[in-house]
Amino acid sequence: MFVRSPCLYLLVLLVIWTRDVNGGARTPFFDLTVYNDWPQFEDYIKGVAHDNPSFVQLKTIGRTREGRPLLGVRIGKPALPGKRKIAVWLDGGNHAREWPAFHVAVYFIEKLVNGYLSDDKITKYVETLDIYVFPVLNPDGFVYSRTSTRAMIRQWRKNRAPENCTGTGPFQTDICCEGVDLNRNYDIGFSHKNYPFNNPCSDEFQGPRPFSEPETRAVRDFIMSSEIYGRLYALVSMHTHGQLWILPYNYQKRTYPQDIKDLEILANRAADRVFAYRETKYRVGTAADMLGTATGGATDWIKKNTPTKYVYVLELPPDMKTWFAFQVKPHWLIPIGKETWLGIEVIFDQVVEETKNFQPTEPTTNGTSADSRSPRFRQL
Ligand SMILES: *[C@@H]1O[C@H](CO)[C@@H](O)[C@H](O)[C@H]1NC(C)=O
Ligand SMILES: *[C@@H]1O[C@H](CO)[C@@H](O)[C@H](O)[C@H]1NC(C)=O
Ligand SMILES: [Zn+2]
Repeated sequence: MFVRSPCLYLLVLLVIWTRDVNGGARTPFFDLTVYNDWPQFEDYIKGVAHDNPSFVQLKTIGRTREGRPLLGVRIGKPALPGKRKIAVWLDGGNHAREWPAFHVAVYFIEKLVNGYLSDDKITKYVETLDIYVFPVLNPDGFVYSRTSTRAMIRQWRKNRAPENCTGTGPFQTDICCEGVDLNRNYDIGFSHKNYPFNNPCSDEFQGPRPFSEPETRAVRDFIMSSEIYGRLYALVSMHTHGQLWILPYNYQKRTYPQDIKDLEILANRAADRVFAYRETKYRVGTAADMLGTATGGATDWIKKNTPTKYVYVLELPPDMKTWFAFQVKPHWLIPIGKETWLGIEVIFDQVVEETKNFQPTEPTTNGTSADSRSPRFRQL
């Protein structure tokens, strides 16, 4: 479209000028008032990296069953020579139908990129930390869940692994069902005796063996890679729904990491901050204790196998009482993004404060040897 009116012309100039004041940061258009499809996410993630090369880098950590890229960004000014920055991780989870979580992850990218050099807090984060954001860790399932309003498809949860014909249903055996629940496929508490996770027709099918899926292997390998192993200090994985701030561990009841108190105190502070915005009330605890055990979870595995300290799952709004509300009305996406971001800031502030005198450990692993005895963050 040509710019015909002088007024509009001035407005365009003003917008360009404002962007300059913002240090040239810009984000591609992404409409957070509607639910978007995968191509919009893909274009946005690639575009935001392309447009902001001085502090945003595109990350492709692997490919899905159907060949889609697992995309994210690293937001952060480059480290000073000879230094490793502390890293944090935000993701929109891996459950296909949980569209709001994917969109909230984009809201976080918007917040960080647009806030750099215009918001003091965010400028500090971008300078001090490397912030990894992976909006969609199961694009195949997401694409599938967008193809129909039929409940079986729209409420799809798993990836798109080919059918397995050993499924069971009421009074039936040898039923063929597709898909693996990526959040049951990690190597923690995994057992062929786990019912219903051992049933291919369950929504929560764990897969034939731990890390049978390319999507979970990609996350595992990146988490263990020299790029972030030993410097990743906090990780928040978003799901919907329930308003739960979930602590580890979830593969067994009443089972906690030794630093659970620190994780709980920070979670409560973050949840209080979220509440202050519009009274969205989160319950804090392990999902195993609040809801029931779930083996093979991504965040449990990460907490157990890496020195990453603050590891959380957020079940975003609405609360548990709202039945089948995986897709809140899209006009809620921005308010949910805003309030959740306030909680994320509490976590980032704590990470910055707590790691002031830390030197991240050197990369010593190439993906096989790390376990909970690995060196913790070393204090200078
Ligand atoms: C199908 O699922 C069962 C139950 O987990 C598993 O034992 C079997 O190996 C799977 N088959 C294939 C071809 O993956
Ligand atoms: C990396 O893995 C290979 C085998 O996969 C092994 O031979 C090598 O020693 C490992 N390197 C480190 C630094 O752990
Ligand atoms: Zn989920």
